[in-house]
Amino acid sequence: MDIRITEVQVGKEKQDSSTLGFGLTFTDYMFMMDYTEGKGWQDAQILPYSPIALEPSAMVFHYGQAIFEGLKAYRTADGKIQLFRPEVNFARLNVSCERLSMPTVDIDFVIQALIKLLELEADWVPSAPHTSLYIRPFMIATEPIVGVRASLTYKFMIILSPSGPYYKEGINPVKIHVENHYVRAVKGGIGFAKAAGNYAAGIKPQMDAKEKGYAQVLWLDGVEKKYIEEVGTMNVFFKINGEIITPALNGSILAGVTRDSSIQLLKDMGLKVTERKISIHEVYEAFEQGLLEEAFGTGTAAVISPIGELEWDGHIMSINKGEIGPIVHELYETLTGIQNGEVEDKYNWIVKI
Ligand code: COI
Repeated sequence: MDIRITEVQVGKEKQDSSTLGFGLTFTDYMFMMDYTEGKGWQDAQILPYSPIALEPSAMVFHYGQAIFEGLKAYRTADGKIQLFRPEVNFARLNVSCERLSMPTVDIDFVIQALIKLLELEADWVPSAPHTSLYIRPFMIATEPIVGVRASLTYKFMIILSPSGPYYKEGINPVKIHVENHYVRAVKGGIGFAKAAGNYAAGIKPQMDAKEKGYAQVLWLDGVEKKYIEEVGTMNVFFKINGEIITPALNGSILAGVTRDSSIQLLKDMGLKVTERKISIHEVYEAFEQGLLEEAFGTGTAAVISPIGELEWDGHIMSINKGEIGPIVHELYETLTGIQNGEVEDKYNWIVKI
C-alpha cells in the first residue's frame, strides 16, 4: 500500500529539549489509515497533526474498543536516530487487537510507515539527556452505531511526542502505594492487552494514591489481592537476598518490552532472575528480615525506575534507604546506553533509521 503525504505548511516551534515533560506536545505530522471489514486497511497517509472528525456514535466512545502501544526513537551521539525493538511493540499491538476483536496490522508495513514518518520528523527527536521521541501508535473503533458488537470500521494512527522523564522524580526513586481495595484486571479479562480500558480502571486509584504523595499504585491480583501484578505504567522487579524476582506473565499482566529486555540484561549481568508468583506478604517478610535489597519498575515511558518506598496497608517499606541501588543503576545505564547507541547492542534490538 502506498502512503500519501500531505505536507505541513508551517512547522511548529520546538521547545528546548532540556525542559521537556512527558507527552505534552506533539510534532508536525501523524500517520493514519482506515479499516473497513471486507476491504482491509486502506488510505494510508502521513498528514499534518490535527483533530480528527468522528461521529458521536462512533463505537470507541461507547464500548471502548481502543488499544495502543508506546515506543521511542532515540538520538545517538553522532546525530542519528534509532528505534528499540519496534517489531515487539507491533506484535503486542496485534495481540491486543485479537483480544478486543479488532483487525490486526501488517507489522512490516507499519514499521515502514513509522520510519517514513520519522524521516519527515527527524528534527523532532530531542538530544538532551533522558529525552526521546515518544511514539504512540493506537487503534480505535469508528463505526457509527450503538449496538454492542465488534465495529466494522477502525482507524490506526501514530502520533509523536518529544518527551523527557515520565515521573517528576526523573530517575530518582519513586514512592508506590500497594493497592488493597481496587483491582486492575483478572485472568480471562483484558489485563494482558494494552487496552485503554485497563488504564481507565486505574485512574481513580492512581489519583487517590497521588493525593497521599505516591507516584503510582502497585496492583495485586484481582482474586485474592495477594500476588503482585504490575505498577500502573510499568512491570515490577524485586531483588531479594541476591535474587531478582518478577511476577510471571499470567494472563492479567502486560508483557512489557522493557520487562523482557531487562530480564535478558540482568541475566547477562550474572544475576539469577526468576519469573514466578510473588505475594506482597513475601515482599514484606523480606523487608522485615532486611533482605529486600532493591525494587524497580520497567516500562517504555518509565524506562527503569527505582522504587524507594512501598506503602502496603499502613506498613512502610523503605527500600535501599530510598536511594538508587547498584543493580537498578547498572541496568538503567546498560539499557539506556543500548537505546542511545553508547553501549554495543549484542541483541539485535536496535533498528537504525
Ligand atoms: C509506555 O510505557 O509506553 C506506556 O504505555 C505507559 C503509558 C500509559 C504512559
